[in-house]
Amino acid sequence: MSEEFLPFSRPSISQAAIDEVVSCLQSGWITTGPRVAQFTEALQHYFNAPHVLPVMSATAGLHLSLLAMNLEPGDEVITTPLTFAATLNAIVLAGAKPVLIDIDPQTLNMDLNLLEAAINKRTRVILPVHFAGLPLDINLLYDIAAKYELRVLEDAAHAIGSEYQGQRIGSMGDVQVFSFHPNKNMTTVEGGCIVTRDTQFADQISRLRFHGIDRQAWNRYGKSGSQDYEVVLPGYKSNMTDVQAALGIHQLRELAGFITRRNELANRYQEALSDWPQWNLPQRPSYDHLHSWHIYTPLINEDITGMNRDQFMQAMKECNIGTGLHYRAVHLYPYYRQAFGFNPGDFPHAEDVCERIVSLPLFPSMTDAEHDRVLDVMYRIFN
Ligand SMILES: Cc1ncc(COP(=O)(O)O)c(C=O)c1O
Repeated sequence: MSEEFLPFSRPSISQAAIDEVVSCLQSGWITTGPRVAQFTEALQHYFNAPHVLPVMSATAGLHLSLLAMNLEPGDEVITTPLTFAATLNAIVLAGAKPVLIDIDPQTLNMDLNLLEAAINKRTRVILPVHFAGLPLDINLLYDIAAKYELRVLEDAAHAIGSEYQGQRIGSMGDVQVFSFHPNKNMTTVEGGCIVTRDTQFADQISRLRFHGIDRQAWNRYGKSGSQDYEVVLPGYKSNMTDVQAALGIHQLRELAGFITRRNELANRYQEALSDWPQWNLPQRPSYDHLHSWHIYTPLINEDITGMNRDQFMQAMKECNIGTGLHYRAVHLYPYYRQAFGFNPGDFPHAEDVCERIVSLPLFPSMTDAEHDRVLDVMYRIFN
């Protein structure tokens, strides 16, 4: 194979973004400061939300959000087994118990029809994931949350740019956490943000995010700043830096174009693979939505291909094409089995999907020729 390795994901960083990062580095202010303030404002505008709090990762965002929900030992948070470990880790680190419900095998999102049966008097929070950037049924989700007076923390790590019934994910509901990891729809290298319309909650996040300090600390060292502050709780150090925000400001401006290209590439896969029996292709729900296609994840049919998912990924690698695995079922990792007694067979749809799922290459700068190459290589592998 003489062709260069094609990764399954690659960030698109414009010259304007690089220039902004360089001027930030040269500016004398590189940690949390004016560029984080500018990025925050741009995100507030984007989400049409009063409170957006950039943080150093979505993992930190989920953790701080759950801490700010004041969970007590024994409190339960309902989530999905088809997610990255960060989702469940945040629940445990916030002192609560993760309760899982199986996924809808069509959308791969948490099956909201199973939600009510999992709710009991210890339930405090519903923590669904907009898997791959496909929005959950927001109306149904919030109807159930309202009925039982539960908080909702949307793990929207995959979902910046996604829309439900014409409204952006992040522009409605309780709390959303987005990721700006390099594989995601936009990046700040590492990073993320918390979005909410709840002022008290946002104030608590702001304190938890930076040492428990009760006021914006970034201009303490400037001419107009004051060295004075109070520590009102033992907080974390989860603030975003100005270098990250310099990148984020430009990524956000370019996001709409990224999402358009992601949709083109996903549609191209859907069309090209529609009559391949080797795959079950991603399915869409009937409600109005815009998919952001953070990942394109068909399920392999081993009885047709004669190879399992891991063998397929290896064969692609040998042909210089990268693929991704999102995800292994979280409940079957040793910690979760030991700590919470999860077992194989507990969530059959998720387990079936996790054995068969693979993320094919998809990123905004991917060319049609690279896309064709993926299809050609898959054709050769299967035939
Ligand atoms: C569903 C989900 N939640 C949370 C995270 C954590 O994001 P971050 O890497 O920004 O901490 C990820 C990252 O892959 C994810 O896929």
